[in-house]
Amino acid sequence: MDVYEAVASRRAVRKFTDEPVPRDVLQRVLTAAARTPSGGNLQPWNTYVLTGASLAEVKKRTAERLAAGDPGDEPEFEMYPPDLKFPYRDRRFAAAEQRYTALGIPREDKQARRKAVAANWDCFGAPVALFCYIDRDMGSPQWADIGMYLQTIMLLLRAEGLHSCPQMAWSVYRRTVAEVVSPPDELMLFCGMSIGFEDTTTNHVRTDRARIAETVTFLD
Ligand SMILES: Cc1cc2nc3c(=O)[nH]c(=O)nc-3n(C[C@H](O)[C@H](O)[C@H](O)COP(=O)(O)O)c2cc1C
Repeated sequence: MDVYEAVASRRAVRKFTDEPVPRDVLQRVLTAAARTPSGGNLQPWNTYVLTGASLAEVKKRTAERLAAGDPGDEPEFEMYPPDLKFPYRDRRFAAAEQRYTALGIPREDKQARRKAVAANWDCFGAPVALFCYIDRDMGSPQWADIGMYLQTIMLLLRAEGLHSCPQMAWSVYRRTVAEVVSPPDELMLFCGMSIGFEDTTTNHVRTDRARIAETVTFLD
């Protein structure tokens, strides 16, 4: 698979089969992803990969919290600026609309929307979850490095016939994840990622993108 194909075929997949992902494939992907560039070569990513009993435990404990109506842990970072302005707000809104339309969930069906969101904490059925932590001392440039790292992983997964969904949603139940992975105190959970083989029986979305002229300026 060439790079264009990997980029084009990567989507946030939100329904996986339970087919296990071989450990050597994960090892290969994460070894290759270690080549991700980072400012000063800090490599500020700290990654935990959960499968089997450890992932089942995270899912179970989180499901218990959800069932008890627990709204989650106090946030350690803002997922989005509080007053998201134009055009970002519109893009966010449009992506959510596209997603729920594909799932056949009308705007007013709040319960179905909540259920779709809750699927995050079951990793959308995926057999593998990756949790990426960043040291609290790090600043925005290192967060950007981690973004590159996660995208590198997602593209390599495509080359292996696998799909993924990056999930900031895991930061909502970060204490539960920490109970299982026991990260050092200085680390903060930035993003989870579900990994597996796509369940192709559900409708999927191909989210739009802004026209290139909106986001790129060429100067001759
Ligand atoms: C850092 C990051 C965090 C994300 N967190 C979530 C999440 O918690 N749950 C989710 O369903 N999708 C999440 N997404 C997926 C985005 O919604 C998705 O990438 C975006 O809508 C574009 O769609 P596409 O990836 O299918 O092209 C996240 C994406 C990124 C890059």
